Amino acid sequence: MTRPTDTSAVAYQGPPLYAVPDDLVHLNVLDMKNTDERLWVPQSKDVWFRPLLFNTSQGYFVNLLRVRKSGILSRHRHAGPVHATTLKGRWHYLEHDWWAEEGSYAFEPPGDIHTLEVPEGVEEMITMFHVTGAYIYVDPMGKPEAVEDVFSKIELARDHFEKIGLGADFVNQFIR
Ligand SMILES: [Fe+2]
Repeated sequence: MTRPTDTSAVAYQGPPLYAVPDDLVHLNVLDMKNTDERLWVPQSKDVWFRPLLFNTSQGYFVNLLRVRKSGILSRHRHAGPVHATTLKGRWHYLEHDWWAEEGSYAFEPPGDIHTLEVPEGVEEMITMFHVTGAYIYVDPMGKPEAVEDVFSKIELARDHFEKIGLGADFVNQFIR
């Protein structure tokens, strides 16, 4: 009697699919104590982001947002879906009654307009945001004032890496 050969532990033997981009791995992204400070791109006073992935063909980016101040961060509208995983601290939107607590996940639907506040007593907030489309910064009536997307994030990161001596091309490793 022949037994079927178990191939479950055999790695894929065929050719790679054409035009598949390189995979992208960052070790220890959740280790908040041992991060390379050079990777944190200043965005505004006491606000930084650390890029994990800039996806230019699908128009999204994944980054860690770090805020070391309390108060209002921004009022914005989303042109695409947002996934937010809070790694440290807590924050909320003035328009909603839920709070993003450490270890929580939140989905922000496209079209939602909200105002992000970090409360008093939070010395540092770090959240992993997966943002598709754009942040459209708006006034209290929803009138657009500024736009941020994967391309403006890339520009900010390029300028930062250039300025600190890593070179503008350092940003390329994050782009897929
Ligand atoms: Fe948002």
